[in-house]
Amino acid sequence: MESRKKAARYERITQQLKGLLTKTADPVARMATVAAVLGHKFDYYFWCGFYRLMEDKLIVGPYQGPVACQVLEGRGVCLEAVKQKSTIVVPNVHEFPGHIACDSRSNSEIVVPVFDNNGGILAVLDVDSKEFGAFDETDARHLEKISGLIYQHLEISNDQKD
Ligand code: SME
Repeated sequence: MESRKKAARYERITQQLKGLLTKTADPVARMATVAAVLGHKFDYYFWCGFYRLMEDKLIVGPYQGPVACQVLEGRGVCLEAVKQKSTIVVPNVHEFPGHIACDSRSNSEIVVPVFDNNGGILAVLDVDSKEFGAFDETDARHLEKISGLIYQHLEISNDQKD
């Protein structure tokens, strides 16, 4: 996807999410909303969702796409992002030592940490693609902003109409 078009789409989605995420500060509700919105906006997304950090394991959270691994432990791209405390872009998952293949159709992946307000990691946002090299700096920059919304203080609206 052309980089300017991709950036513009992420910007629109981020604005939309900022509105949607004012209903509750509950992180699981927010993760579910982010996964539902992101999951339908990009043709090259095959799976997208969250894994929550529980001690030294990652347990699956809200997601969109085929059934995924429920528990990640010991290795994998997601745990590596937790260890490094930074985003990891993997152009070819078959070349990443320790990659965990929840679905053999995935060929590239991006994993973005979800930080709390004290800089601790509580979860990761993971997106997989059937395409090789689907994710770049534009995805990284925007998905980092979006993952930052999960624990961000947003004015909560009690309006039940929408
Ligand atoms: N590939 C990930 C596992 C999660 S799935 O891609 C949904 C990993 O290596 O940690």
